[in-house]
Amino acid sequence: MWGKYCIIDKRVDIGLDTVIMNYVEIGRNTVIGSDCYIDSRVSISGGVAIGNNVTLRHGVILAKGSAVGDNTYIAPRVITHNLNSDKKELDGVIIGKNCFIGSHAIIQHGIRICDNVTIGAGTLVLKDINEPGTYVNSYGDGKIHITKISAPPEKDFICYKETQNFVGCLQGCDRCKVHFKLTAAYLKENK
Ligand SMILES: CC(C)(COP(=O)(O)OP(=O)(O)OC[C@H]1O[C@@H](n2cnc3c(N)ncnc32)[C@H](O)[C@@H]1OP(=O)(O)O)[C@@H](O)C(=O)NCCC(=O)NCCS
Repeated sequence: MWGKYCIIDKRVDIGLDTVIMNYVEIGRNTVIGSDCYIDSRVSISGGVAIGNNVTLRHGVILAKGSAVGDNTYIAPRVITHNLNSDKKELDGVIIGKNCFIGSHAIIQHGIRICDNVTIGAGTLVLKDINEPGTYVNSYGDGKIHITKISAPPEKDFICYKETQNFVGCLQGCDRCKVHFKLTAAYLKENK
C-alpha cells in the first residue's frame, strides 16, 4: 500500500502490510520486509535490503547497497553514504536489528552497526560499532570521535504507540500492528 507521487523502480519487493507514504522513491533491486513504515520523502537507492517491522521516518536517505535489520527505527533525515569524495562508489551501510538511529545522523560508507545500538541525534558515524549501547559524538584533538554513553536498556525496546508520538514500534507488538492497519485505511480513503 503506498501513497501519492511515489516512484517505485523495477524489481522492488515490498512485504505484507508495509505502508509507504507520499513522495517515496525506491530504486531497483530493493527488498523491503513486512510491517514496515516508510514515511514521506524517504529515498532508497537501489540494491537495498530492509528487514521486517522497520520504520524509516521523513526524509531518510538510504544509499545504494545499504541494509537495515528487523525492528530498527530510523528517525527523520538520517543519511547513509556510499560515495567517497572522489565520487567513487563504495560499500553501503549495514545497520543491525533493534537499532534506533537518531534524527540527522550521518553514517559513512561501508560502516557496520551491530544489533541493539542507539545512535544520538546529529551523530556522525565514522567507525564501525560492534557492541550494543548508546553512542554520540564527542570532540577532542580537533577531531570528531564516537563515544559510548550507555549500555543497551535492560527493558526491551519501547512501543512508540504507547507514547502516542510515533507510528511504528521497535517490537512489532499487537497494538502497533493495529495502528499500521489504521494508517493503511487512512491512505486508501485519502488517495
Ligand atoms: C543519545 C540519546 C538517546 C541519549 O539520551 P539519554 O540516554 O537520555 O542521555 P542524556 O540526555 O542524559 O545525555 C547523556 C550525555 O550525552 C550527551 N548527549 C546526548 N545526546 C547527544 C547527542 N545527540 N550528541 C552528542 N551528545 C549527546 C549529553 O550532552 C550528556 O552529556 P553529559 O553527561 O556530559 O552532560 C538522546 O540524546 C538522543 O539523541 N536521542 C535521539 C532523539 C531523536 O532523534 N529522536 C527522533 C525524533 S523523531
